[in-house]
Amino acid sequence: MELGLRDKVAVVTGGGSGIGAAICHQLAREGVHVVIADIDMEAAARIAEEINLAGGKALPVYVDVGNAEDVERLMAYVTAQCGGLDLAVNNAGIHGMRNPTGTYPIEEWQRVIRVNLDGVFYCVKHQINAMLERGSGSIVNISSILGTVALPLTSAYTAAKHGVVGLTKAAAIEYARSGIRINVVGPGWIDTPLVTDIQKAASSSRRMDALQPMGRRGKPEEVAALVCFLLSEQASFITGSYHAVDGAYTSH
Ligand SMILES: NC(=O)c1ccc[n+]([C@@H]2O[C@H](COP(=O)([O-])OP(=O)(O)OC[C@H]3O[C@@H](n4cnc5c(N)ncnc54)[C@H](O)[C@@H]3O)[C@@H](O)[C@H]2O)c1
Repeated sequence: MELGLRDKVAVVTGGGSGIGAAICHQLAREGVHVVIADIDMEAAARIAEEINLAGGKALPVYVDVGNAEDVERLMAYVTAQCGGLDLAVNNAGIHGMRNPTGTYPIEEWQRVIRVNLDGVFYCVKHQINAMLERGSGSIVNISSILGTVALPLTSAYTAAKHGVVGLTKAAAIEYARSGIRINVVGPGWIDTPLVTDIQKAASSSRRMDALQPMGRRGKPEEVAALVCFLLSEQASFITGSYHAVDGAYTSH
C-alpha cells in the first residue's frame, strides 16, 4: 500500500535487528529517509547497506537509548543532518532476566527499566520537541503484549512495557492539538533474535509457543505493516491508543 510517506524523515531505534529492521525496510520501500539508531553499530550499518543497495535511503547512527545525553545528541544530529524529523519508532528493547519478583536483582530491574522505559521517555521527549518545530509528526512506541497482561518471572519487563503504554497515552493527549500523534504497538510472540535468546534460556518459551491461538509466531513484517500504517496520514484520527499485533494471544 502507498502510505504517502515519500521523502519523510524517520528515526527507528533498535533498527539493526528483528522488528526494528523490518520497520526500517518497510519505511524505506515507502520512500522514507530512515535513520537507523542502534547500540550495535555493525547491525545498524548492515541494515542501512541493505536498504541503500536496494535503492532506499538509510543512515546508521549509534545510540544507547538508556543514556539521556546520547538520545539528545542523536536527535540534534538527525535534525541537523536531515533538516527535521517527521516520524519516529521507539523500538529498542531488551528482555531481561526471568526471576520471581521477591528475589529479582535490583541491578537487573534497573537495567531493564533503563532501556525499555527510560529510553522510550528520552526519545519521545526529544522527538516531540523536534516535531513541534514542524508543527506535525507521528510517533509509534513499541511495547508488548506484556504492556497489558503479565507473564510470571518478568516483573521488570512487564512493568516497563506497561509504563510505555501509560507514557504514550499521557503524551498523546498533551500534543493532540499540536499536530503530533503518538501511538503504542504491542507485538505478541514474534520470530526475532530476542525470542531466540529467550528460547535458549527458558523452557517456558515452549509453553508460549503452545499458547499461540494461530498456532504460529508472528513475523517482524507483520508488526512493521501496522507501525507504518500508524505512522502515516491514513491513521490521522488515531492517537493515544494501544494496538495489539498478537494473533489473538491477549484474547484468551
Ligand atoms: N520479539 C518479540 O516476540 C517481541 C514481543 C513483544 C515486544 N517486543 C519488543 O519489540 C522490540 C524489538 O524486539 P526484537 O524482538 O526485534 O528484538 P531484537 O533483539 O531482535 O532487536 C532489538 C534491537 O534493539 C537494539 N538495542 C538494545 N538495547 C539498545 C539500547 N540500549 N540502545 C539502542 N539500541 C538497543 C539491539 O541492538 C537490537 O538491534 C523490543 O522493544 C521488544 O521488547 C518483541
